[in-house]
Amino acid sequence: RRVAVLISGRGSNMRALVEQADGYDVVLVASNKPQAAGLAWAEGRGLATWALDTRGVAKPEWEAFLDEALADHGVGMIALAGFMRLLSGDFTRRWAGRIVNIHPSLLPKYRGLDTHNRAIEAGDAAGGCSVHLVTEELDAGDVIAQAEVPILPGDDADALASRVLAAEHQLYPRALSAFVKASIA
Ligand code: GRF
Repeated sequence: RRVAVLISGRGSNMRALVEQADGYDVVLVASNKPQAAGLAWAEGRGLATWALDTRGVAKPEWEAFLDEALADHGVGMIALAGFMRLLSGDFTRRWAGRIVNIHPSLLPKYRGLDTHNRAIEAGDAAGGCSVHLVTEELDAGDVIAQAEVPILPGDDADALASRVLAAEHQLYPRALSAFVKASIA
């Protein structure tokens, strides 16, 4: 299966998806931020990249350009990885069942931003990450895989974030691989 990974920044999950690819190929790395650090890494690796700043471009138009790039590269599945832009209902419906995201919480807890502070403030014993199907509603699609990490006494959001991120890098490639294999079967 030909996968596009959408990023907005650092791209460490994208990198994990590329380096641990099994049963899928990352054929395009796309971004709404031309300066995203992950794009430079992908280019250095010889991967195709696409970036279009969203400023000054209406969302339907931006998504139409993205769809063109996806079609040009024969993409059949999209993985969001630190992609910080809400996709429209039209777009998510068009890709329904073929678009996934990784979110740094144990969904359905803590949709949206600032997940680590919220988990610590709630006194949770564990945090973690979830891979889920993307629907129009933010972080609300079916969860397909989760990994849990402990929240330790004295943890601040940064400490928890790095523990969760390490788990993300393990979970996402495995979950995508299993998902792609199941959807081909
Ligand atoms: C990750 O924690 C991801 O779960 C969240 O944003 C972060 C992106 O990091 N949505 P990276 O760009 O993959 O390094």
